[in-house]
Amino acid sequence: MPVWETLLTNARIATMRRDAPGYGEISEGALAIRDGRIAWIGPQNELPDGDAAETRSLDGRWITPALIDCHTHLVFGGDRAAEFEQRLQGVSYEDIARAGGGIMSTVRATRAAPADKLFEDALSRVQALMAEGVATIEVKSGYGLDVKTEIRMLEVARRLGEASGADIRTTLLAAHAIPPEFREAPDAYIDLVCNVLLPEVAARGLADAVDAYCESIAFNAAQVGRVFDKARTLGLPVKLHADQLSDGSGAALAARFGALSADHLEYTSPEGVEAMAASGTVAVLLPGAFLTLGETRLPPIAAMRAHDVPIAIATDCNPGTSPVCSLRVAMMLASRQFRLTPEECLAGATREAARALGIGDECGTLEAGKHADIAIWNISHPRELAYWFGTPQLAGLLKGGHTTRP
Ligand code: NIG
Ligand code: FE
Repeated sequence: MPVWETLLTNARIATMRRDAPGYGEISEGALAIRDGRIAWIGPQNELPDGDAAETRSLDGRWITPALIDCHTHLVFGGDRAAEFEQRLQGVSYEDIARAGGGIMSTVRATRAAPADKLFEDALSRVQALMAEGVATIEVKSGYGLDVKTEIRMLEVARRLGEASGADIRTTLLAAHAIPPEFREAPDAYIDLVCNVLLPEVAARGLADAVDAYCESIAFNAAQVGRVFDKARTLGLPVKLHADQLSDGSGAALAARFGALSADHLEYTSPEGVEAMAASGTVAVLLPGAFLTLGETRLPPIAAMRAHDVPIAIATDCNPGTSPVCSLRVAMMLASRQFRLTPEECLAGATREAARALGIGDECGTLEAGKHADIAIWNISHPRELAYWFGTPQLAGLLKGGHTTRP
């Protein structure tokens, strides 16, 4: 007879399995947990006999996979509210960046901030995400742009995982902007990233992936290619900020390197979408940045659907273009701005977000063998998760079978 740590009964389950239609619904379901993983899931009347240390009736509540925020920059110093005001007066994001503001003003504040201050501020952002059912969060560096501060950001990100109970996936984004010390010699900065920073980060196991920003105000395809070549040599998967403000063939570049994801994609061409489909690269849509920058050009969603490119949704939480610590708000925005269906929004914040992080075999759906990362909701149907926003509906959150929210 099987022995379980926890047995959830009387649940309505949205498994979000890829091989099931819709939400993968099990209307009267049960789920058993052993060693932090889902040991059994299915209709309650088929539950095998077993012993559970704890049995919890959910009284007909819905459960879904815990949410996954697969693109954030939530470790940073300062804020950019003054630039927000400037932009409302008509100054563009690119002009602010070229004048030494933008990402660079956050770099100055981040370099000046003690690690403990970065940690405390970031922890409150992590907790805000978790309060809405998020159990896995990607966190990028990219506001240090020197060896010392990039490493400090990744160390802070690792500490966030230990302190919060969330699974924090770290990404080295050293190629986010050209640091002031290298303004006239960006290739020399890429040398530093490839020859010093990447080997040290890899040796210390500080990053789970490597990202870059391919854009006219950041790095070109050749520079990104050098970073990605080095990442591959070190066994680190890559992802790319691609085609956000212009079509720089970023999606195709990401696909060429077998990237886990290409993110933003407002200006991606049909060829870029085809390349992503061929390489299995996930499209990560960031509607908070789209909103904040006042973008009007939509990502090519019809082409993504037509080519079966997986679509994930993330907050892009950062002080410049997406000051939001709510994945539910990102889901809401994706439905309103990008016309994604509520089902696509939930898949985008669970199953496809897991794939964008290269952990699709471990989490993102409710299936036997996967981590018991489970959100419990006070809702009458999962379509409500993209419908309501700013409305507390979480009734509990399990991470690896352990309760992190009551
Ligand atoms: O994802 N696109 C580049 N990086 C961030 C913005 C960072 C910032 O402006 O501080 C983004 O939108
Ligand atoms: Fe970003």
